[in-house]
Amino acid sequence: MSKILVTGGTGYIGSHTTVELQKEGFEVVIVDNLSNSNIDVLNGIEKITGIRPAFENIDCVDYVSMDRMFEKYQDIDAIIHFAANKAVGESVEKPLMYYRNNLVSLINILQLMPIHKVKSMVFSSSCTVYGQPDILPVTEQAPIKLAQSPYGNTKQIGEEIIHDTLAANADLQSIILRYFNPIGAHASAEIGELPNGVPNNLLPFVTQTAIGMRKQLSVFGNDYNTPDGSCVRDYIHVVDLAKAHVIAVKRLLEKNTNAQIETFNLGTGRGLSVLEIIETFIKVTGVDVPYKIVGRRSGDVEKVWADPSYANNVLGWTAAETVEETLRSAWAWEQNLAKRAEII
Ligand code: UFG
Repeated sequence: MSKILVTGGTGYIGSHTTVELQKEGFEVVIVDNLSNSNIDVLNGIEKITGIRPAFENIDCVDYVSMDRMFEKYQDIDAIIHFAANKAVGESVEKPLMYYRNNLVSLINILQLMPIHKVKSMVFSSSCTVYGQPDILPVTEQAPIKLAQSPYGNTKQIGEEIIHDTLAANADLQSIILRYFNPIGAHASAEIGELPNGVPNNLLPFVTQTAIGMRKQLSVFGNDYNTPDGSCVRDYIHVVDLAKAHVIAVKRLLEKNTNAQIETFNLGTGRGLSVLEIIETFIKVTGVDVPYKIVGRRSGDVEKVWADPSYANNVLGWTAAETVEETLRSAWAWEQNLAKRAEII
């Protein structure tokens, strides 16, 4: 059984990926410092799969602890490196925190891989590296634009660090996955997105408003050059995204590729506006979401959606879930969270 290290494994995408890995027979070791997640996520994973993954409360920035962790779990076959800060606005306020956490953790992992004879890494990148693309849908060949935020810059620099490191070490292999906007939750509603404090991202704000935790959702701008004036994104079900990681890991471990580095867009290929998301959510759940139009949020790109054909053709992967089902799953998760809070 192959052993996979999942950094950030109690986080939103990390926990869903852990479930899919375990379902496919992989053994998972999670490293997470719980800075933006909760230890209870392990219970959710165990409820779904019947397996509690190994867990180490370690900050990937801590080289010595990471080194010890690799010693403890001998024979890690591959790494999926999710652990990172990801709030665009916060990164503008605290740039050094973002550069330290997102880049030092990656450098530590790349440095420790050859020492512990781990050859394969899947890296969490983002469509944020494209900024506002000139041509839509955006392909992997689109130029990397000047980053709009320190967060975005950490993803661009992270990709460069991987390219430079692998150029100097022919034994290492990596797949870089550029995510569009992950939303939704596992169908069991046992795990989902659980941001600390006031959500930055659209979907948790929508579901928290629907459940009554927030009075009103702010829609950031309706004067963009889009059909209804609100921003357009490519929203992808988090479980579809998780499944792509399993395929990527298998591709590296089963040596289905000769390329040392490959980069894939992970999106649906469909752009939806903020207002379309709100309207579809209201339609499929029957629950109202009070909202008001406010000014633009600084740093937002107007519209971006993926050309996922490279991932479709080469990985044999497609985002399968409909946006309706995805929004229903996000709502089921929010309701489950509310139920749990009542019990406590
Ligand atoms: N939005 C609102 N109101 C809100 C929150 C968001 O109108 O309360 C709008 C935004 O303006 C944007 C859209 O909803 O038009 C999506 O916003 P998100 O914050 O959910 O996601 P982003 O498209 O800003 O994506 C960013 C980065 C990604 C990163 C993602 C997760 O570009 O790389 O945040 O943090 F992965």
